[in-house]
Amino acid sequence: MKISIFGLGYVGCVSCAVLCKDHDVVGVDVAPAKVDLIRRGQSPIVEKETDDLIRTGVEAGRLSATLDYDAAVACTDISIVCVGTPTLDNGAHDLAHVEGVVEQIAAGVRHKSREHLIVLRSTVPPGTTERLMREKLGGLPVRVCFNPEFLREGCAVADYHDPPFIVLAGSDDRAVALAKSLYDGIDAEFVVTSFREAETIKVLCNVFHAMKIVFANEVARLGEAIGVDGGNIMRLLCKDTKLNISSTYLKPGFAYGGSCLPKDLRSLEYLARQANVRVPLISSIEASNNEHIAQMIRKISGHRVRSLGFVGISFKKGTDDLRESPFVRLVEHFMGKGYRVKIYDKDVVPSGLIGANKRFIDNTAGHILNALVQDASELRDCELIVVCKDGMPQAREVYEGKIVIDVRGHGQGGSGDCAVEKE
Ligand SMILES: NC(=O)c1ccc[n+]([C@@H]2O[C@H](COP(=O)([O-])OP(=O)(O)OC[C@H]3O[C@@H](n4cnc5c(N)ncnc54)[C@H](O)[C@@H]3O)[C@@H](O)[C@H]2O)c1
Repeated sequence: MKISIFGLGYVGCVSCAVLCKDHDVVGVDVAPAKVDLIRRGQSPIVEKETDDLIRTGVEAGRLSATLDYDAAVACTDISIVCVGTPTLDNGAHDLAHVEGVVEQIAAGVRHKSREHLIVLRSTVPPGTTERLMREKLGGLPVRVCFNPEFLREGCAVADYHDPPFIVLAGSDDRAVALAKSLYDGIDAEFVVTSFREAETIKVLCNVFHAMKIVFANEVARLGEAIGVDGGNIMRLLCKDTKLNISSTYLKPGFAYGGSCLPKDLRSLEYLARQANVRVPLISSIEASNNEHIAQMIRKISGHRVRSLGFVGISFKKGTDDLRESPFVRLVEHFMGKGYRVKIYDKDVVPSGLIGANKRFIDNTAGHILNALVQDASELRDCELIVVCKDGMPQAREVYEGKIVIDVRGHGQGGSGDCAVEKE
């Protein structure tokens, strides 16, 4: 294939180096020095393997570079956009370079008779590709893909050949198929998704990586103060691939609660305070959890009803443990505001509560038990049903014609739209 690559920075140079093995590639940049270096067969970036790959590509006549974007578009079928999207003072991505390049490619396409594919690889905020298609490419014979880049500097060529996955969004099937063919020979899972998801996942991955680094470093700082080796303890944490390094606890749902997570988190924060170690990430966890509950309270309040039915009250499926259940906090809020509240939870039988759980109820949440009903059908006269827990029986008549808010996952619920799982 004939490919033009816009932007000869880290991503663009690695793309040139790798793609010129099998394709005719022309690199385009506004910086004459970078274009000159490529023309001389030298890599403008310091990155393992790129020197050799670029030299070989130039010597074989498969890689060239130019400042002339019009010529680059004219002689190629695919343009890959790898220009920078640096940060603005307000934190947003600066899209000026991406917009400029898309305009340049659009100008080039106007002089062409063949159709053209644009593959956007620069990291951009969600909604950008669709907006660029609308504002800059309308009416032109172009197909568009967004294909986020996951390479890491320092091992970029190796990452290019062995990516965690390949995410693609396209304006149509042909666009996706063409972009896919750029990866011929690479053994990785392809995920074809929407433009917005493809744009979001790139940013989210980096945020997740940053969060992991900061978490490990907070653990190490605290460890140093309390005589625990940060490296060892994190290695131990990573050994648990069931609950720790896995997708467990990474599914959006409601706030955490129960008898362990809240108290152990608080105790670690207390330890850090005692040791005079600041752990801002760990210290922000409870506030974020509280915000999740507050947001749900606002959502339920927004419906302007006076009677609520809660399906589930213990902190998770298959237990009657009400200690620090976030649903208890929801219920308490609305009871306090004078709402008529009924609760159904097949796991919670007041006469069966014992031990610390019973003490918690007796001391702090006895009023909750008064709202418990024996059968889900008794929620029939509630205007709004809040589905809190999995594993509750299906009682269609309870939900039908009601406003149903399913707090177990975002984007669910809504008027009369029952998203309750089958038992
Ligand atoms: N560097 C990384 O490790 C990495 C990894 C994944 C994704 N990304 C993303 O990829 C994009 C590129 O990153 P980078 O580190 O390669 O950027 P960079 O700053 O190293 O390079 C960008 C290049 O684009 C050129 N450019 C600007 N306007 C141009 C135009 N109109 N025409 C042609 N060239 C133009 C610049 O001169 C520069 O050479 C960014 O959005 C970045 O967030 C970077």
